[in-house]
Amino acid sequence: MLKTKTREPREDFSSLKGDLLKIVDPGDISIDSYPSTSSHSLKNTWRQNPRNWGHPMHSMASRSGSFPPALADYFISNFSKIGDLVLDPYSGKGTAPYQACLLDRIGFGVDVTPEAYVLTGAKVHTIKHEEAVEYLKSIKFNISKTNIKDVHPDVKVFFSTKTLAQILVIKERLLEDLELGTEKIDYINGNVFHQAKTKKEQCAQYWLGILTGILHGSSSYSLSLPCSHSFSMAPNYTKKYAKEHDLKKPDRNVKECMIEKSYSLQSAGIPRVSGKAYLGKAQELPDSWEEKFDLIVTSPPYFTAQSYAWDNWLREWLLGFDFKEVRKQTTQTASYEKYSQAMYEFLKEAHRVLKRGKRAFVIVGDVTKKSGNEKIIIKTSNVITTEAKKAGFEVDLIINDDIPPTKRYNSSFLTVNQGLQIDRIVCLRKN
Ligand SMILES: C[S@@+](CC[C@H](N)C(=O)[O-])C[C@H]1O[C@@H](n2cnc3c(N)ncnc32)[C@H](O)[C@@H]1O
Repeated sequence: MLKTKTREPREDFSSLKGDLLKIVDPGDISIDSYPSTSSHSLKNTWRQNPRNWGHPMHSMASRSGSFPPALADYFISNFSKIGDLVLDPYSGKGTAPYQACLLDRIGFGVDVTPEAYVLTGAKVHTIKHEEAVEYLKSIKFNISKTNIKDVHPDVKVFFSTKTLAQILVIKERLLEDLELGTEKIDYINGNVFHQAKTKKEQCAQYWLGILTGILHGSSSYSLSLPCSHSFSMAPNYTKKYAKEHDLKKPDRNVKECMIEKSYSLQSAGIPRVSGKAYLGKAQELPDSWEEKFDLIVTSPPYFTAQSYAWDNWLREWLLGFDFKEVRKQTTQTASYEKYSQAMYEFLKEAHRVLKRGKRAFVIVGDVTKKSGNEKIIIKTSNVITTEAKKAGFEVDLIINDDIPPTKRYNSSFLTVNQGLQIDRIVCLRKN
């Protein structure tokens, strides 16, 4: 006798009631192992205009692996209120903390790579253009003191002698004021922590952020020969390409380029609220942050999908760091076990610093790995859900951000077969 086919019991969506239901219609939710939905079914999302949306300050630097400001805006607007503390422990170029400040929340950013930290700090400390210019003009730069011959040949591939001479003195003086000396920060032993506290440190950080943003690219104020703005290109390739295409290293007035860029970044004003930026690790947040935050919006690295230290090697050089040392402290591994462990440590910290009843949104992409001739797709969100539960979180929903790979905001330089296929937003709650 044929058995009647029984339907899988529908999962109880009562846990979704409340804040998540503001954005999700339960009818759109399907169940695989966790309740999930497509970002197509959400209301007024970041998908409507993933590129060129938001405050001009977001474009201080283009950096591979960033998420769009509109995505941060969506979760911050819907899941926090004015005055709340919003954390991104993998802040990258500061998208989420800066958007939080724009929305009158206090945005906190932590990142382990110096250029990400500097970019986050440069955005979240409210320093008016005029005040920043006054600080910059008060500094005496002694160009004759620079020693270009000590600069690594890889760096010289990108800059004219005149431009490089100015970069050297400006960087040296700003780094002195920021007190971001490598002797204080020990990437080999994992002793990585810094914060710009005084106005002088914050002004120096602001200009270092601007300098980082114009260091390479192809705009009228970029300091290098025309090349990518999103990542630091390989020196040998660039040298060869520049020769073949007769690319010129421009002579720039570096200070003027910095001021021009600052002016355009602040053309829509600055936030009323100041945030905070820390050089540090997501797995080791300060002890004093116990139950401090109202919301976490973040995107950790996805296995080896990106190499943040190498992708920013020239920017790390600007800030006085060797990318190889920086890389040792970033979470970048092809090993499932090591990646899971790093995610567990981060999620345990995220759970500790979040207030009860509050949410964390963790954005991770599926990655494609080659195994012999075969391609395997790894769902990074599976690692996050497993480790988040171990760390004490409830997993409420997974939002599949199924924008086609070629139209993605953060991987326009990747081909369809390379790397990322789909981002998934894991919606977590601390009870
Ligand atoms: C996917 S990106 C985040 C991008 C960011 N949402 C944005 O819009 O710019 C991941 C970030 O994690 C940082 N990172 C890698 N390992 C880290 C760690 N152990 N602790 C903190 N940050 C880390 C990288 O430098 C990179 O900026």
